[in-house]
Amino acid sequence: VGRTTLLLLLLLFKQHAYALHCDSILTLTGKETFQTSDYSDHTRNYSSDRAIDGNTKSCSHTCSESKANDWWRIDLLGLYEISCISLYNTDQKNIKMSSAEIYIGNSSEKTGTANKRCTTLHGFNPGTNKTFICDGKPILGRYVTVYQHNSDFVVLCEVQIYGTKKGTTDCNRNSCFILAYSKTEFLALTSCNILILNVFFLLYTLGLVCLPI
Ligand SMILES: *[C@@H]1O[C@H](CO)[C@@H](O)[C@H](O)[C@H]1NC(C)=O
Ligand SMILES: *[C@@H]1O[C@H](CO)[C@@H](O)[C@H](O)[C@H]1NC(C)=O
Ligand SMILES: *[C@@H]1O[C@H](CO)[C@@H](O)[C@H](O)[C@H]1NC(C)=O
Repeated sequence: VGRTTLLLLLLLFKQHAYALHCDSILTLTGKETFQTSDYSDHTRNYSSDRAIDGNTKSCSHTCSESKANDWWRIDLLGLYEISCISLYNTDQKNIKMSSAEIYIGNSSEKTGTANKRCTTLHGFNPGTNKTFICDGKPILGRYVTVYQHNSDFVVLCEVQIYGTKKGTTDCNRNSCFILAYSKTEFLALTSCNILILNVFFLLYTLGLVCLPI
């Protein structure tokens, strides 16, 4: 009984433990970035990785000739609880990012817009460094997408993401399955694909099954 009560208390605590503060900054080196298309001039391609190169003077810049919706995305190659996102842009008049939106989730389908909407980039004007907190509470996911709902470019001179790693994932292009969670996270998460593991872990905590350790 003691063990179960403790875990249930931990679960309750976990649900109320979301304070709206930024966790630690994630190292984005080595993560994969994508964007609709690269803008280029005579000297360089403004590729998506320039938004996470730690240099605020080098920017990523999309190029939508078809006037389609432009987007920038990072694949964190794992599951993270994301609390804040800091964006920086240089002072260039043609950068219009304040109506773009951030999406966070586990899927790269529909260019990430099938994921949870984190927030709109209100007030992200040229020459600003602005930190966004997802509406409500942190969002758990693998992909972070910046999406333009109009025909403007996506220009990002630096992207910083704050959060905590949650479990390892076995990832392919469109889906993500969780392989490892801490014991409290097993109970705290109830999404379908890990329900069976939750039931197993519950039986384990109740002492009804044994783990082959
Ligand atoms: C930009 O990228 C294209 C395609 O990868 C490449 O052919 C071209 O040389 C690049 N341009 C510059 C200036 O690096
Ligand atoms: C991503 O997957 C995890 C684990 O299945 C889930 O808890 C989380 O809510 C998912 N994220 C989104 C945005 O759906
Ligand atoms: C933006 O501001 C935050 C908070 O002051 C700071 O930690 C971060 O390094 C800044 N980012 C850039 C790219 O200037």
